Formats: sequence, C-alpha cells, structure tokens
Amino acid sequence: MNNEFSIEQEELQFEALIDGLLNNQYGFTESFMDVDTISGLRDNLFRYRENGEMHPAGIGKKFDYQKNTLVRGDLIKWIDENSTNAFERLLLDKINRFITYLNRTCYTSINASEFHYATYEVNSFYKRHLDQFKSEKGRKFSLVIYLNEDWTPEDGGKLSLYLNENKIDDLYPLKGRAVFFKSDELEHEVHPSLTRNRISIAGWLKSV
Ligand code: OGA
Ligand code: MN
Repeated sequence: MNNEFSIEQEELQFEALIDGLLNNQYGFTESFMDVDTISGLRDNLFRYRENGEMHPAGIGKKFDYQKNTLVRGDLIKWIDENSTNAFERLLLDKINRFITYLNRTCYTSINASEFHYATYEVNSFYKRHLDQFKSEKGRKFSLVIYLNEDWTPEDGGKLSLYLNENKIDDLYPLKGRAVFFKSDELEHEVHPSLTRNRISIAGWLKSV
C-alpha cells in the first residue's frame, strides 16, 4: 500500500506539532497521513455509520458521565488499539511512533492512548471545553486528525482554540490536517457544521 513518508519527513511533522505546542500552545501539520490512508479511514467511518456502529458521545467519566447534546452532538466509535484494519493500523502505528518521539525528545511519560472516529452531523457542535476530566487526569495531549474532502469556510465546523491573552485561533477541519495541544490547558470549541457531516479522528495521549 502506498503509505509512508520518509522517517525524516515524519520527524519534521512531529517537530511541527511539538514546536507549535511549545511556542503557541498548539501545533498543527498538514498531510499527517497520506491521501490513500485518509480516504481509507473516511470509508471506514462511513461504513461504521451506515452499520449503526457510531453512537452519541458523552461528557465526563463514570458517575459524571452524561449525554447532553446541548454541549456535544457528535457520534463516535472508539478504535481498538489492536485493530487489524489496514488504515487504522497505519494511523495507530504512526501515533505510536509519535509517542516514542515525544517521550524521547520531551521527557514525557506517555504510556497509553485512545482514539475515536467522530462525525458531527449538520448543526452539531461541541461547546467550549477542556479534554481532561476533573475526575480522571490521564489525558495529557489531544490529537485530532481531519478526514473532510474539500472543506470550505461555508461548511462551518471550525475549531476555535482559546489561547492566552484572550487570543483565539481558528482552524478548519481540512483533510489530512492534524492539531495537537495539551488536554488540561487549552480550551477549545467545535462550531456547528453547517452543510454536511464533519468527520475526524480525535484522541488522547495518556499517562496512566
Ligand atoms: C473533542 C474535540 C475537536 C475537533 O473531540 O474533544 O474537541 O476539532 N474535537 O474535532
Ligand atoms: Mn475536545
């Protein structure tokens, strides 16, 4: 299968994510996965959705857990870390290389991760929030990878990042783009998707 950036290209992407996070509170890179893998992941998502395998996401953990579409309206499906689906494998293996790189270069101690597919149907959103739960502090870094073909500003669905000094940066969920930030520090918001499903894979690097 035609994946694969060279190790050097991959490390430049990892550096872009990390440098951005250190200097601007978030990092992003385009083409986190090659186009074939992005298409494969998108097809997976559509198939899961048609098979009724995507379910409303909740907010909070354990006793705090609740479904509240006034806060969050996406449908999700968790990815098994031992998945043998070719495209999920390529993504998870790359994420694992990123974790190794991060631990080696930044002395982090990430030892677990969790990722899910997400689809925000038209008019769905996720209000301003942090990704780390008060009751469970394992989530250290958030990483979102977008799967949307030909997304334009008219489609809505931008991600707002609430930075220090009341600065707000917006990112559109463009195909292949990845965004990376600290789960307990950076508040962010997914604006309503206006014209069509907004699709992504979102997840967390954890210390457990
Ligand atoms: C999340 C989230 C951001 C995005 O799933 O917690 O904030 O742009 N996602 O999809
Ligand atoms: Mn979030």
